[in-house]
Amino acid sequence: MPTVLITGAGRGLGLEFVRQYAADGWSVIATARDPGRHEELKTLERAAAGRIRLHALDVADATGIDGFAASLAGTTIDVLINNAGTMGREGYAGRGMQAQRFGQSDYDDWAEMFRVNALGPMKLCEAFADHVAASDQKKIVALSSVMASMGSNNLGGFYAYRSSKAALNAILKSMALDLARRGLIVAPLHPGWAATEMGGANAPLRPQHSVAGMRQVIAALTRERSGRFWQWDGRELPW
Ligand SMILES: NC(=O)c1ccc[n+]([C@@H]2O[C@H](COP(=O)([O-])OP(=O)(O)OC[C@H]3O[C@@H](n4cnc5c(N)ncnc54)[C@H](OP(=O)(O)O)[C@@H]3O)[C@@H](O)[C@H]2O)c1
Repeated sequence: MPTVLITGAGRGLGLEFVRQYAADGWSVIATARDPGRHEELKTLERAAAGRIRLHALDVADATGIDGFAASLAGTTIDVLINNAGTMGREGYAGRGMQAQRFGQSDYDDWAEMFRVNALGPMKLCEAFADHVAASDQKKIVALSSVMASMGSNNLGGFYAYRSSKAALNAILKSMALDLARRGLIVAPLHPGWAATEMGGANAPLRPQHSVAGMRQVIAALTRERSGRFWQWDGRELPW
């Protein structure tokens, strides 16, 4: 059975990825900053009879990522899902929109969004490229956002979040080109507006549907579809 590595697996879309891949018989490596805090994740692990392995990982901790990758030397990873992400201290469902207006920038918070949303995935990909290259499927994806899309931005605002996810997209585009000769397939995904802690209770999409859709998109990724920006329902987004 294939192996998937999922970051930010304690809640929201990450937890749902764990649930669905495990139910499908995959071997799942699930990371969270503090796995012991997440009861649903621990329950899934107990029920999976060794097919779900939990690891503590902060994606902003480059040294921790190197140690984690070394601990998994020799393990092949078919799909690396860079899911962990942040909209900053105020979130989206909270004061996110006001907090990220022009004139309101909190530069420490902005830098943290870059560390988690862009630099963390970059570091994970550098640390795990060999594990993925040695697998059958050789796929790397990251949870981006339509908010990264310049072509879809009709509303303005959200400077910090938009720019951190646009940086993530630029990183994945280069990676798709650079790693193609090793057979790797790389793409950013937009999960839709999904009802998680980040998306808020009013979001129209249930995490189950978003993740089921993204799993289909991942399954359909080919070399020809690498380096392009995909939405959860299979539609392609403009950069
Ligand atoms: N929901 C939406 O509508 C939506 C739309 C567009 C894009 N996205 C993207 O989808 C991804 C998943 O979001 P979600 O909706 O599931 O949000 P969520 O419920 O807020 O979950 C975010 C996850 O990221 C983890 N995380 C945050 N900072 C981290 C760090 N430094 N190291 C490791 N993990 C960290 C959190 O872990 P802790 O439990 O430790 O805090 C949590 O598991 C994110 O990348 C987000 O930007 C979501």
